[in-house]
Amino acid sequence: MADSTSSANRFYLTTPIYYVNARPHLGHAYSTIVCDAIARRKRALGIETWFLTGTDEHGQKIERSAEQAGCSPQEFTTKIAAEFRGLWDRLGLTYDDFIRTTEERHKRGVQKLFSTLRDRGFIYKGSYSGQYCVFDEAYVEGPPGTPCPDCGRMTETVSEENYFFKLSAFERKLLEFYESNPGFMGPESTRREVISFVRSGLKDLSISRTSITWGIPVPGDEKHVIYVWLDALVNYITAIGYGSDDPKDQKKFEKFWPADIHLIGKEISRFHCVYWPAFLMAAGIPVPRSVRANGWLLFDQGKMSKSRGNIVRAETVDEVLGADALRYFLLREIPFGQDGNFSFDALVQRYNGDLANGYGNLVSRVVNMVHKYFGGVVPEMPSSDAPSIVQQTLEGFPAAFDALNFSGALQQLWALVAETDGYLTENAPWKKPTDRSDSDHQKLQARVLTDAAEGIRIITALVYPILPDAAAKVWRQLGQGEIGDAARNAFLKNLAWGGLTPGTKFGEPAPLFPRAEKDAIERMQNLEDSNNRSAVDAASQGEATALSQAAAAPSEVPATAVNTADGRANEALTPPTAGSSADQQHISIDDFAKVDLRVAQILVAERVPKADKLLRLEVDLGYEKRQILAGIAQYYEPEKLIGRKIVIVANLAPRKMRGLESNGMLLAASLPPDGAPVLAGFLEEVPLGARLK
Ligand code: MSP
Repeated sequence: MADSTSSANRFYLTTPIYYVNARPHLGHAYSTIVCDAIARRKRALGIETWFLTGTDEHGQKIERSAEQAGCSPQEFTTKIAAEFRGLWDRLGLTYDDFIRTTEERHKRGVQKLFSTLRDRGFIYKGSYSGQYCVFDEAYVEGPPGTPCPDCGRMTETVSEENYFFKLSAFERKLLEFYESNPGFMGPESTRREVISFVRSGLKDLSISRTSITWGIPVPGDEKHVIYVWLDALVNYITAIGYGSDDPKDQKKFEKFWPADIHLIGKEISRFHCVYWPAFLMAAGIPVPRSVRANGWLLFDQGKMSKSRGNIVRAETVDEVLGADALRYFLLREIPFGQDGNFSFDALVQRYNGDLANGYGNLVSRVVNMVHKYFGGVVPEMPSSDAPSIVQQTLEGFPAAFDALNFSGALQQLWALVAETDGYLTENAPWKKPTDRSDSDHQKLQARVLTDAAEGIRIITALVYPILPDAAAKVWRQLGQGEIGDAARNAFLKNLAWGGLTPGTKFGEPAPLFPRAEKDAIERMQNLEDSNNRSAVDAASQGEATALSQAAAAPSEVPATAVNTADGRANEALTPPTAGSSADQQHISIDDFAKVDLRVAQILVAERVPKADKLLRLEVDLGYEKRQILAGIAQYYEPEKLIGRKIVIVANLAPRKMRGLESNGMLLAASLPPDGAPVLAGFLEEVPLGARLK
């Protein structure tokens, strides 16, 4: 991989901006942590660095998520964007700016770029009829009924008058550009994929939608909103001043653009390596220096994602082992650019092996001995030459890190940890052989401990971008002051053997990485389980309401809707229970008529992974088939439900749970004391789709 270090003394790097349709998880944290490590290293080298992250807030997917959450898109996006930002702050990530695509500065820049492209003749109006994947916000080739090639979800047919971008005009230009800039994109797999995509021919790209409103209007033709990917990609320039009239912003743009690295997930390479450079070329703006794709973080065999229901939250790891442990694991365990497995076991193993028993133990031994034998003051010693492994690490670590080979860089650094540890053990400064004089022993102690402490100083300086909290503690223990100040003074620029001067007063020893006991895994699992439970409970609030009413009237069996998808409907459907009729509001017959109750037959029933309560049902209404999620898994064996006729609320707004859409709700009695459901049914034969009134 090419060295992505820019030659200029400024560095601009970006994360993808995250969709706010879901809360942040480890997959999102991964890209942001990688960027944070790079940014910290660049700053500590004295390079003026700008690290941008943010949230992608427009588009149909977000609009629908807001609708399902029952709030306005603006409210919804503000809430989730704050969660992303809050998590980055909690993890101590040092972004310089956080852009939201709903901000004015962004809208202004997107509209300016659109106008520029139009003025330069790269945009025309046409009509689009084809397939669109709402989940990926991407146009898909193929007839109606074609699933999305990326996520496998069914596409929707879109027929609209659209603005088009003349992407076809850039096929040759892009291929030439890739050829003459081999370092532009990586890893190699991404490069190959992108080139073959462009070689297979580029069609013009639809860049506006009229069927949605949650987006940035096309300047001068406001019934169109700008396609979410064009909107989103432009964040990289609007955040540093593109589109602003303020000379300060313009200067910033000139200073930082083009970006040195756009760090992205591999699934969005096409947008960053094809569309984005084409837009920029068309607008006469320089293209970014490089795009680097990280692989996927896998959990339970699949890409960690909300829609698969297999996420782990960064907060959980932070709470039990700390943010440094997470950073170390992600960068050491997963070769950058490849997919990698996350597991609590592997995390704890790395933590105990490399951090607690490795680096942490080494620091503790040396700092304690300097206190014990020299009163915490670095003894007077003639300087020594750098051991060859130190010299190798001082060269090898930066080379690997700057090529984004974090795992390799850390491997080299840990070889130095092991070597330093071995040097201590071999010389055993804590043990005085009987045939050694006191003064010889003191000399040996001084030599061994100053060399080991110097080794730790080098290791700590190098590892600072990856373990900033631990490095800060060690820096103080080595009597070096605040590592943040050292970083601001570009301490990595002149890092060399021999910096630990005699007479330096060490700080108090303090534990770095307390060994994780057996219960650490269990604690993390419990935190995740209780979080998942509360997510399911939040989604099944209606069930709780209905069931608590049932419990209050043990003699009655209230008919209640046990599909947990929509609490509001449950409340409406639960009839007054004994003793509560006085304060129960009556509804009119018209209100009742609004509820479309229908007979349906269960065709498919299966459990939803990681959701103990949920079953996924496919039901036949006679006139259509649909999917429903029902909170009855603890009471009904899925196989026994197949073929059974049930009653469903057919006109309930769709709702997503565990990434699956539920289109309706089934009815069941709810039995005290724990609300066991009994499905509503019929004694006589009833046709599918028959309405209950
Ligand atoms: N909004 C777009 C990006 C626009 S950039 C101009 C988007 N958002 S996303 O929220 O779906 O994903 C953003 C990024 O999150 C991915 O590209 C990837 O970097 C990261 N990841 C989300 N899940 C991930 C894993 N399980 N593993 C690794 N990274 C993943 O796409």
